[in-house]
Amino acid sequence: MEIKITQTRLVERLADLAKIGARPDGGVCRLAVSDEDRIARDLVVKWMQNLNLQVKIDQVGNLIGIRPGKSDLAPLVIGSHIDTVPTGGRFDGAVGVMAGLEVLETLNDAQIETDRPIMLVAFTNEEGVRYRIDMLGSRAFCGFLPIEEAYEVKGTDGTNFGDELKRIGYAGEFPCGSIHPYAYVELHIEQGPVLDREQIQVGAVEAITGISWHEAIIQGEANHAGTTPIYMRRDAGLTAARIIVYLREIANELGENQRATCGMISFSPNAINVIPAEAVMSIDLRNSDESVLKRSDLLLEDFLKKVAQEDGTSIKTRALAWVKPESCQANIIATVSEAAEELGYSQRRMISGAVHDALMLAKYCPTGMIFVPSKNGISHNAAEYTSPEQLEAGANVLLRTILKLSS
Ligand code: HGY
Ligand code: MN
Ligand code: MN
Repeated sequence: MEIKITQTRLVERLADLAKIGARPDGGVCRLAVSDEDRIARDLVVKWMQNLNLQVKIDQVGNLIGIRPGKSDLAPLVIGSHIDTVPTGGRFDGAVGVMAGLEVLETLNDAQIETDRPIMLVAFTNEEGVRYRIDMLGSRAFCGFLPIEEAYEVKGTDGTNFGDELKRIGYAGEFPCGSIHPYAYVELHIEQGPVLDREQIQVGAVEAITGISWHEAIIQGEANHAGTTPIYMRRDAGLTAARIIVYLREIANELGENQRATCGMISFSPNAINVIPAEAVMSIDLRNSDESVLKRSDLLLEDFLKKVAQEDGTSIKTRALAWVKPESCQANIIATVSEAAEELGYSQRRMISGAVHDALMLAKYCPTGMIFVPSKNGISHNAAEYTSPEQLEAGANVLLRTILKLSS
């Protein structure tokens, strides 16, 4: 018997979730551990309970819905995240969790008992925007991040992760690191242009990029914008600007898999007629090749020394995150491709340039990812779009992959 997911249910749940933190431009702002996140969590928990899943909340607030199997073999875990960036779309992360619910509902309807338990997880703070340890929930889930350390993470708004998690009622007791999955599979939108450009329905992810995040704090000297001769300035703003330009040079030099971005910057005193005394900036470097990622870190480090000396400023850096790129497991990659082919969907192998909870899980258990197209390659933007048919294809591949892996 061929079982398939129900497109309308999947699309409806996605639309309901997108109402929480909805922005006037059609996008979503649902920052991790915010009030909006709490409301979304309540809804996901309710949906899990409606599907008769056993719900556990772990110590960092990961939502875990368990569908028992015929035996207590190691579980097959599926999932993604429901937090967004401030200018998020409706699909990033949400698709993996909503498709997970849909897949489990389909199994319930067909009264299929899998050999292994299946667990659906909505991981906490994947984006790492408000609390800048990205994939925080999946790190802790795998036992890579001590709970106390997670609780101490300071937010960009001055809040504390642990306090906020308690405030929204999602500091659970289920111990992190206690689940040892047989495998992890995540369905996600591509967030890039490849599938859309090539008109391919499904991506079988072979590897996930590594990531290096830093904060640079540049000290100069505040002085009068009109009277201070250029040669006498110690301009933190100039240094920051030169670093941004250099990031592009790093990307140009290290080839097409290298990324380099400054997404955040602030000056102080931040006044029109005052030379900036301080600039604080974020730096996001990525590569799917570990050695090249390390090289980008070194190039940056050398440049920071040079530019500070030339500009008469000083620079302190703080490493926010460094995560080695990972390959997906060969058997799961092949299973995803096979499932797509059997369902008659076009598919290709590809690399993920975004990081995902799957990057953490890949360090912990055999892991794979399924990508569906993002219209025009746009993501982290209200215009993010994947059609109902494309979502349906991805969810069907997820369902078939799970059935193959769990038997
Ligand atoms: O930043 C990322 O790659 C992901 O969207 N969190
Ligand atoms: Mn995501
Ligand atoms: Mn994202």
